[in-house]
Amino acid sequence: MPTAHAIPEEPGLDHSLALLQEGYTYISRRCDRFNSDLFLTRIMLTPVVCLRGAEAARFVYEGERFTRRGAMPRSVLLLLQDVGSVQTLDGAAHRHRKAMFLSLMTPDAIPRIGTLLAGHWRDAVRRWEGGGEVVLLDALAEILTRTACDWAGLPVPDADIPALSAELAAMVENAGSLGPSYLVALRLRRRAERRVRHLVERLRAAELEAPPGSAALTIATHRDTDGATLPAGIAAVELLNILRPIVAVGRYITFAALALHRHPEWRERFAQGDEADLEPFVQEVRRLYPFFPMIGGRARQALRWGGHDFAPGDWVLLDLHGTNHDPRLWPEPDRFRPERFRGWQGNPYTLVPQGAGDVAATHRCPGEWITIALMKEAVRQLCRMRYTVPPQDLSISLSQMPAAPASRFVIGAVRPN
Ligand code: HEM
Repeated sequence: MPTAHAIPEEPGLDHSLALLQEGYTYISRRCDRFNSDLFLTRIMLTPVVCLRGAEAARFVYEGERFTRRGAMPRSVLLLLQDVGSVQTLDGAAHRHRKAMFLSLMTPDAIPRIGTLLAGHWRDAVRRWEGGGEVVLLDALAEILTRTACDWAGLPVPDADIPALSAELAAMVENAGSLGPSYLVALRLRRRAERRVRHLVERLRAAELEAPPGSAALTIATHRDTDGATLPAGIAAVELLNILRPIVAVGRYITFAALALHRHPEWRERFAQGDEADLEPFVQEVRRLYPFFPMIGGRARQALRWGGHDFAPGDWVLLDLHGTNHDPRLWPEPDRFRPERFRGWQGNPYTLVPQGAGDVAATHRCPGEWITIALMKEAVRQLCRMRYTVPPQDLSISLSQMPAAPASRFVIGAVRPN
């Protein structure tokens, strides 16, 4: 084994401010400047090794080398995955819980979410017709909340949908913020947890019903490695781990609408029913547009990679956005070019918007298939309906995490077709 050598190090006491200001580009800018796929810096006064690229993604995701515990600011953890969720588990306990999520992603269930979305989308378009302008990103939250509850078999009363939708949207919107808006989002999160926990308890008491194989029933009755059902609070957290990210797909759908607006030749093709490139289009949206910037880990054991020795507990940040924009993997990475995914065989380490590696054995997102199914159906709906895109600020700031077009994509004069 070659001996370890010093990796580039960013001088200075702390770079948290630079990370907040530079956002999605923080890691790759420095990798470019140091001409290295890893470098050492200090964030929140803590040393951290930042990495990017396909080999780095393999190293961080495979082999159960890193835990997610203690690897993200607690504020992010509480709004997103939360304590006791699959993401905070390691080893056999993680694989067992992960299998529960993957059991939901059957060949029937994946396309079903697209069908459900189509129904709720058409209802919304009918309401929008003849009305004023619609802020797409915000309007999608309720459409996707309805879709998520139906898909998960969660019997949420219709009157509660708008509140639940606001709660779920706030979790994603504020994951990167601090201060008052964060505290409001945390309060909404707690309300959503109580709401879903109550439903789990009523399902368990047979006061409510959920379809066999649905996420609601599967999670409510899941037995952990110790043979016991999950505490109701943890079951609620895991159900939210399905509902919240389904609503989050609204950001990708908004980016897809932006791509259709900027590249109308694709709209024409899809509107004519030519769907040969629908999946490449959706993959290119997931690759190009910014969503999950980076993922943190803490070494579970002594490790060596890229000539660097990691001690147990060492902190790493893997650049997901930078890997999706790595010019060695994606020529002309900032150009929207769905053609690059024609005939793509898949590669678990190069396209990593939702994590890397083998989904069953790593922390890679179990929701990629349904994300793609939702996006494809949304593109179909966007190409079928008619709308105008009034003048607005469509710029995307890469220092705002999670990112979105500044205007959140406003459409007007909506008609079914
Ligand atoms: C908006 C699209 C989505 C994005 C950008 C996204 C992103 C991610 C990322 C980056 C991870 C990896 C976290 C890590 O390595 O620790 C992850 C994990 C996860 N995602 Fe998603 N996701 C999306 C949609 C979904 C959907 C639709 C579901 C619904 C099932 C879902 C459920 C999960 C769960 C449960 C985990 C934790 C997996 C584990 O720790 O093993 N996500 N997601």
